[in-house]
Amino acid sequence: MSRDVSDPELRAALHRVADMVADYLQDVGQYPVLPKVQPGEVASMLPGIAPRQGESLDRILDDYARIIEPNVTHWNHPGFLGYFSITGSGPGILGEALSAALNVNAMLWRTSPAATELEERVCDWLRQMLGLPEIFRGHINDTASVSTMLALAAARHAQPDLDIRELGLAGRPEIPELVVYISDQAHSSCDKAVMTLGLGLRQVRRIVSDEQFRMRFDALAEAVEADRRAGRRPMAVVATAGTTSTTSVDPMDRIAGLCQREGIWLHVDAAYAGSAAICPELRGQFSGWERADSIVFNPHKWLFTPIDCSVLLMRDVETLRSAFSLVPDYLKTDEEGVTNLMDLGVQLGRRFRSLKLWMVIRAFGVEGLQDRIREHCRMARDLASLIDQDPEFAVVAPVPFSVVCFRWIAGDSPEQQDSLNEALLNEVNSQGPVFVTSTVLKGRYTLHLAIGNLKTTEQHVQDAWQIIRAAADRVSAAQLR
Ligand SMILES: Cc1ncc(COP(=O)(O)O)c(C=O)c1O
Repeated sequence: MSRDVSDPELRAALHRVADMVADYLQDVGQYPVLPKVQPGEVASMLPGIAPRQGESLDRILDDYARIIEPNVTHWNHPGFLGYFSITGSGPGILGEALSAALNVNAMLWRTSPAATELEERVCDWLRQMLGLPEIFRGHINDTASVSTMLALAAARHAQPDLDIRELGLAGRPEIPELVVYISDQAHSSCDKAVMTLGLGLRQVRRIVSDEQFRMRFDALAEAVEADRRAGRRPMAVVATAGTTSTTSVDPMDRIAGLCQREGIWLHVDAAYAGSAAICPELRGQFSGWERADSIVFNPHKWLFTPIDCSVLLMRDVETLRSAFSLVPDYLKTDEEGVTNLMDLGVQLGRRFRSLKLWMVIRAFGVEGLQDRIREHCRMARDLASLIDQDPEFAVVAPVPFSVVCFRWIAGDSPEQQDSLNEALLNEVNSQGPVFVTSTVLKGRYTLHLAIGNLKTTEQHVQDAWQIIRAAADRVSAAQLR
């Protein structure tokens, strides 16, 4: 018995799933954002061993509705305002469903011509939407962490005298330390990439940022010079356009100039904010990224595409190909002039991710996407001025996109203020309708509110502010009496 479920059974279940999905998305706001479960509670509802006999799809879906759906954190909730509040969308969900049905493995052109060519076409649409030069070639990975790791692997491969692909790093005292420069606000995925590539965390220079959380160019230039003097080799700079805490943008123009002069690879991490570059009036903030060697941005963060979907744009895709291409006999094909996506990274098998992205771009259109991003930025700016008008609160970083960092100005000492802000966050998140997260800026506990969900409206943002305000009053009454 190796047959799949019967066609009628599948059809009926698909109809049921369609209703479940539509109901969920319509009513998700009725859940608390964070499920009210304790660690281990979900596991306790699941049998310890797998069923010996197959069960009906209806029964499995009943359990999904009872055990799973209520106990996820509801990223689709309009009050999800934490981290980068990434959002899927109807068209994206349809694309995911169809790609699951096709279940192609897009490792080679031959193993799915449409998946390969759609990916190339959609990435080129994106390149144009972002205003990047034609030379950039994009391909899709799961996450920015992987895209950045691949970009830094290409940067390492672009040191031809070292031939690391063939000879490796171990046992070679002649290899200089290869240094990677990032700002003190850069994402930890940069450090992880360095660890994975065997360069050693000690070769990461965390360059100090300025009062607006942007990498200080003078400090970068000094660090590069100091490393050269010490016989180390500056290998790459990762400039961030949209840092994780405050969405600050490093001075990419000046950094690009330095990298060009010094022969250093420039990778731009625009995982979140890259989407904003589709709006011409926001593109100025990305000035200089067109001179980068590689750029990552995630449609799954702020381009309404379900996770996962990260685009790596390469100035010279051949460097990446020669870093990674390795074709065993069983995968040799004879089509000429085609892309075999497996050549552009570590993974062999690949999902058909471009399908959902294609559906999102077509369903909303470039203007529709621009409108949505603009609206998020506008709501963030409005919230920031609301916060600033309150004498008990302060916005503590510029708001270039759709994230607001702020602090409750309470308590007699910085330490007390930190703990009151933490208490405030816990109180806010325990209510249910909103979820906000925190970060640390210049050593101080800070609230971080991100608007990125398609369902979040002006009303939700105002309600969130009222909830925060009221929670501050309660914490104040309890702790500052
Ligand atoms: C600036 C930045 N880069 C990279 C990442 C990592 O993204 P991913 O989860 O796609 O690996 C994040 C995550 O939020 C981020 O904020």
